[in-house]
Amino acid sequence: MYKTHTCGELRSQHVGEKVTLAGWVNRRRDHGELIFVDLRDRWGLVQVVADPDISKEALDVLNNARNEWVLKITGSVRARPEDMHNPNLATGEVEVVAEQVEVLNAAKTPPFTINKKEDIDENVRLKYRYLDLRRGNMAHNIVMRHKVIKFIRDYLDKEEFLEIETPILFKTTPEGARDFLVPSRMHPGHMYALPQSPQQLKQLLMVGGVEKYFQIARCFRDEDLRGDRQLEFTQLDLEMSFVQREDVMDLMEAMYTAMVKELVPHKTIMQEPWPRLTYTEAMERFGKDNPDMRFGMELADLTDLAAGSGFKVFEGAVESGGHVRGINAKGLGDYSRKQIDGLTDYVKQFGAKGLAYIALTSEGEERSPITKFLSDETVATIKERLAAEQGDLLLFVADQPDVVFDTLGRLRVHLADEIGLRDPDSLAFCWVIDFPFAFWNKDEKRWDPSQHLFTSPMLDDIDMIESDPKNMRGTQYDMVLNNNEVAGGSIRIHQRDLQERIFKLIGLEDDVAQERFGHMLEAFEFGTPPHGGIASGIDRLVMVMADADNIREVIAFPKNQAGRDVMADAPSLAEEDQLGELHIQLDLPEED
Ligand code: AMO
Ligand code: AMP
Repeated sequence: MYKTHTCGELRSQHVGEKVTLAGWVNRRRDHGELIFVDLRDRWGLVQVVADPDISKEALDVLNNARNEWVLKITGSVRARPEDMHNPNLATGEVEVVAEQVEVLNAAKTPPFTINKKEDIDENVRLKYRYLDLRRGNMAHNIVMRHKVIKFIRDYLDKEEFLEIETPILFKTTPEGARDFLVPSRMHPGHMYALPQSPQQLKQLLMVGGVEKYFQIARCFRDEDLRGDRQLEFTQLDLEMSFVQREDVMDLMEAMYTAMVKELVPHKTIMQEPWPRLTYTEAMERFGKDNPDMRFGMELADLTDLAAGSGFKVFEGAVESGGHVRGINAKGLGDYSRKQIDGLTDYVKQFGAKGLAYIALTSEGEERSPITKFLSDETVATIKERLAAEQGDLLLFVADQPDVVFDTLGRLRVHLADEIGLRDPDSLAFCWVIDFPFAFWNKDEKRWDPSQHLFTSPMLDDIDMIESDPKNMRGTQYDMVLNNNEVAGGSIRIHQRDLQERIFKLIGLEDDVAQERFGHMLEAFEFGTPPHGGIASGIDRLVMVMADADNIREVIAFPKNQAGRDVMADAPSLAEEDQLGELHIQLDLPEED
């Protein structure tokens, strides 16, 4: 037997018992006569001591052992003297006196320290991910991930959902990214596409009478990676028949609220029930449809003050259809010129042409490159709208609306980080609803659906498909948590003619629609129930639950930022004969 107990479970009540433990050497300390080893397994650490008076052999083996060796140790549990208790360790009141030690495996010196928190180059961590997983943080995150998924499974099982697997080798299931294609050997020239989500399949399960489906589903999207995006990621994917959007939102809200209370009780949900914002409100107040609602600093609209204000930048922007909006960075009125230049550079990265400001110093001075152009009355109105006080920094962007929202929305979050307003133990969930059904794509001159192709317009707006698509609202709902979009879904189209009208609106040619989605159109003719659903990014959710600052920290084997698995070295070149079997000839760009 390798273990009678885990390393993490020994307490005073075990004193006097003979135990066998197996695990890794976390740390070894040589005190001349005595050798101490902290033995680690998944459940914790316990101190083992080798004493020549008890076992000379055990001492000899531990003398040679090094960090990360795998040992099996048999000995008896004894109480540590009161003054030797380690309050930082759950097992800190006891130690195990080694009687027999067996080396199960030796270990080379690891490429980084496992037993303490340290900044390590991420590519080195990823190359040796199996060692990285032994470190405290990663081990904790992986446990949290398991608990989240287990909670979801148990909860939905009680609600009578069925967990059903759907194929990975399938046909294009677009969610706005590029597809990953898999060439078929048996059908030369033909490709499977990996699903960007199980969207079509879950709808077809509703046609199949399942009524309540969920899956912990892997999704594949060939898109640029970011801190919250991976090429393959995991969704809680869910679909229900005979529901309206309230039903789906209520289920998710109840489930995630219960999950937080059970798994991270030290975190506080800021507002219950969760606030619901329309898309327009989210944009006007926060500049983005995934707002961080843990703090204020909301945008104020100053567009009406620009005309005739005397400041050319504001006037010009509004004349060409733009907006002027501002935010109040409370308490930053003493920011230096250099610090404000830093903020200007920050917004310029995202397309702003500049960042106008009024700094109200704590000494009562006012510094601004723009007030000289403005009337006292305008300045007073601006201050009033931003609820400005001595010590505040007022910041303004004038531009086309999308640039104003995007830059101020980001700046707001950036400043909140500087001021420390983003407390990880506060969870500000909210719903964003009433999205425009489609956005006009200037370059392609067509309407792009704001969610996917199968989202229904709001029932009241269906007559607007041909006459007024601009003002038509979709049934989409997004769940937002602290600046992260953690879920999105909608009520679906379940009638063929409506689906065809939407395909037409977004400019999908009939033959293309038939080739790609003929199976959906056909299914809609066989008694498809009204249905709707949602998908939640599990990785993003766990990131917030575990206080991780990027998505790779909560995935056992993630791709790096260049989309590579640096441990196994993937992607890699295929063998000639593999390509031959697939009838593939490569036409690679010249290497430089
Ligand atoms: P959507 O595309 O909004 O909707 O995706 C749902 C949720 O998945 C997460 N997510 C990602 N997480 C990590 N890496 C990515 N590359 C990534 N892309 C998305 C987000 C997002 O909210 N089929 C629809 C859902 C539906 O209508 O039911 C869908 O996939 O948290
Ligand atoms: P200028 O008149 O170009 O020196 O600009 C005066 C101030 O307005 C500077 O602080 C600029 O950063 C700022 N500014 C310039 N363009 C914009 C803009 N589009 N929106 C907001 N502020 C701007």
